[in-house]
Amino acid sequence: MKTVKDYIRTIVDFPHEGILFRDVTTLFADPRGFRIAVDQLLHPYAGIRFDKVVGLEARGFILGGAIAHQLSVGFVPIRKKGKLPGAVISEEYQLEYGEAVVEIHDDAIKAGERILVVDDLLATGGTAEAGIRLVERLGGEIIGCAFIIDLPDLGGRKRLEALGMDVHALCA
Ligand code: PRP
Ligand code: ADE
Repeated sequence: MKTVKDYIRTIVDFPHEGILFRDVTTLFADPRGFRIAVDQLLHPYAGIRFDKVVGLEARGFILGGAIAHQLSVGFVPIRKKGKLPGAVISEEYQLEYGEAVVEIHDDAIKAGERILVVDDLLATGGTAEAGIRLVERLGGEIIGCAFIIDLPDLGGRKRLEALGMDVHALCA
């Protein structure tokens, strides 16, 4: 029986030389792959109440939308700079390959709401940390951070755990 990892392909030298790009489009395109990824991501949170799922652009939208639907809660996007139409708050961060700014609508989360942060992949943790800062600035309480892939050599898990986050990932 194929595992979640078996559905993910690696593209060498994308988007830059030296990067082994973990491509989850092959996982999302497969009905069983997508289903088991969502189910396994939610498994440790059985019985835990969430108010919202927050997904990180762009693959975190595909995954986070499915997870929010499964939990019957709302979905909030964290987008790259300049994409959200309403009033936003912003955070800068470093990527494995570059730097960027992410934003969230300033009314997307109410103080005290219980949040699950979702993305496809944890590398350096810069994107997730910026997302966490945005959610916490709005008063959200982050209950968990869930990823399909954790690249442990890049230190993201340790970085998020040092912030007090509970990190769940399906494969390396
Ligand atoms: C990827 C991935 C995560 C982030 C992880 O997104 O989907 O969001 O990188 O890297 P980090 O842990 O080092 O921050 P990317 O920045 O490629 O954006 P995209 O999904 O919009 O293509
Ligand atoms: N984001 C940061 N590093 C990545 C990688 N190696 N594969 C896919 N997305 C990434």
